[in-house]
Amino acid sequence: MSKDKVQIFDTTLRDGEQVPGCKLDAEQKLVIAERLDELGVDIIEAGFPISSPGDFKSVAEISDLVKNATVCGLTRAVKKDIEVAAEALKSAKRPRIHTGIGTSDSHIKYKFNSNRDAIIERAVSAVSYAKTFVEDVEFYAEDAGRTDNEFLARVCEAVVKAGATVLNIPDTTGYCLPDEYGAKMKYLRENVKGIDKATLSCHCHNDLGLATANSIAGVINGARQIECTINGIGERAGNTSLEEVVMILRQHPSLNLDTNINSKLLYSTSQMVSQKMGMIVQPNKAIVGANAFAHSSGIHQDGVIKNRETYEIIDPSDVGVNESSIVLTARSGRAALAYRAKLVGFELTKLQLDDVYQEFLKFADEHKEITDEDIPKIIEATNLNIESVS
Ligand code: KIV
Ligand code: ZN
Repeated sequence: MSKDKVQIFDTTLRDGEQVPGCKLDAEQKLVIAERLDELGVDIIEAGFPISSPGDFKSVAEISDLVKNATVCGLTRAVKKDIEVAAEALKSAKRPRIHTGIGTSDSHIKYKFNSNRDAIIERAVSAVSYAKTFVEDVEFYAEDAGRTDNEFLARVCEAVVKAGATVLNIPDTTGYCLPDEYGAKMKYLRENVKGIDKATLSCHCHNDLGLATANSIAGVINGARQIECTINGIGERAGNTSLEEVVMILRQHPSLNLDTNINSKLLYSTSQMVSQKMGMIVQPNKAIVGANAFAHSSGIHQDGVIKNRETYEIIDPSDVGVNESSIVLTARSGRAALAYRAKLVGFELTKLQLDDVYQEFLKFADEHKEITDEDIPKIIEATNLNIESVS
């Protein structure tokens, strides 16, 4: 049975770029957009054209450059924003305008000093106006995570009627629990008239570390688009991490969902974005962190050397990492030492290994990590005259 496709909407260049101190210049944005297209994302949110002349120019240049993906520009529910976005997107092969408004009681009261009916009116006008420029119009209900489901369904029904092709349900503050976010999607699927005409989209923030879990709960409950960023970068604690949702769907065939992403480009894309933004990837980051395929405790190393699958659920080559690494520290065992010694040309017998291991432990207690260059020195210190075979 063929799997249902989940569209990947990458917002590295818009929500991701809102990270303080990590601004990208126009050239860097173009290089990243080209790589995202190659990676296989379905939609690239290129920027917020009205926000600055620089952002307008970037969205226009990305629209010119991108060959496959839909190029999207963000707007508020404001006529001028929509006109400027349409202008910036005019050379895109597949343009999308992403417009919307806050729908939670807190946004309605404090941001807009308005009421529910007036918000629906503004939402409908924005979508109808955007439809005069492009066919593909995505509507976001900002702070949908804290919006009462019944009202959210009313908003969604009205904008679908006005022609919205995608309904973005952002958990803007990262507040929802996975069950709650999944139930919200299910509620919309079951209660919005005309919902079959639109795609439900997950847009989750990571304030409680639940962005990935919430997005997966969303697609399990009927959403078919995930909005995410490379390395999970974004405002505050960030957005849903692209590499995580892609690999979760791939590693769990029972979900019967997949994406168009070429996973072999995930690691290099993560490195590229990290370097261009000057934002390091935390070493323990799932999928793309430096330690994601590194094993340092003796028990794990012994298992991985016997069979990689004992402690790894992903083949590193599937995400573009050459191989798992066996890191030598004072917590490593004999199997790891013998394995790494062999890689640098020393085949140790069991008796030799016992002596070399004692020397190794002394050395390892003084150093954080043992390198390939340290191994011959440790072997030499045993005075066993072991020759390298390489
Ligand atoms: O988090 C959010 O609500 C957003 C919208 C502007 C789509 O980024
Ligand atoms: Zn967001």
